[in-house]
Amino acid sequence: MRDVVIAANWKMNTTPADAGELAASLAAATRHPEVVRVICPPYLSLAAVGRAVAGEGIEVGAQDVHHEASGAYTGAISAPMLAGLATWVILGHSERRRDQGETDALVNRKLHRALASGLRPIVCVGEVLADRDAGRAEAVVAGQVRGCLARIDSETLLAGGLVIAYEPVWAIGTGRTASGADAAAMSAAIRAVLAEVGSTRLADSVPVLYGGSVTSANVGEFLVEPSIDGALVGGASLKPDEMAGIVARAAVTATARAVVEAASRPADDRR
Ligand code: 13P
Repeated sequence: MRDVVIAANWKMNTTPADAGELAASLAAATRHPEVVRVICPPYLSLAAVGRAVAGEGIEVGAQDVHHEASGAYTGAISAPMLAGLATWVILGHSERRRDQGETDALVNRKLHRALASGLRPIVCVGEVLADRDAGRAEAVVAGQVRGCLARIDSETLLAGGLVIAYEPVWAIGTGRTASGADAAAMSAAIRAVLAEVGSTRLADSVPVLYGGSVTSANVGEFLVEPSIDGALVGGASLKPDEMAGIVARAAVTATARAVVEAASRPADDRR
């Protein structure tokens, strides 16, 4: 049974002075342990968020990590620096691809580093509008998945708990979303690549999230799709009321999956 994951990407918002209060509010609003809940604040707020959510069952993630462990990389943050502060990391977000020129090859190096360091990775992929309009969205995303996962074997990806977030670039921060059906079709395309480069078990096990203008009002459209396992939430993740609705809806899916899973087990195992 795949995890249902709701990850909050705070992007470049909050300061160390106010992040703890927001994280505590989010924790109080989202007490559904059946949902894997992750908050990814800016690096400088990791410690404050970690303190605020201690004992809440919420995990903390970074928004990026450097591909080297140390060295002459001014301004960069490495995996060893995140020890004790973050257990997850977002990689290859489209804003970093756009603003920092990150390529699939670089994301692949970062993924190697994250997996070697015990950071659970959320690898972001997604097409720009021109790709979708030209009918090549699935080919573009498939190419991104192949590039990001290159030369990493299936067992390593499974052991590291790989998560993939499908975030169409044209849906990020725009109020536009993909349809649930289009997101599900993309999830199927992503799983086909996972089967091709890894294994059927990898394809069946990796949670695929949707991201792009997710709100409490539209998250259900994605979570009704069996191939979509949660959401990577930007703007709405800064609003406790929104996150309350999003996580509550995810809890419905997580509970339904647990019921199906229990029913599919042989009677002997259920006792
Ligand atoms: P929005 O939810 O603000 O569109 O951002 C999505 C995103 O980029 C999450 O990583």
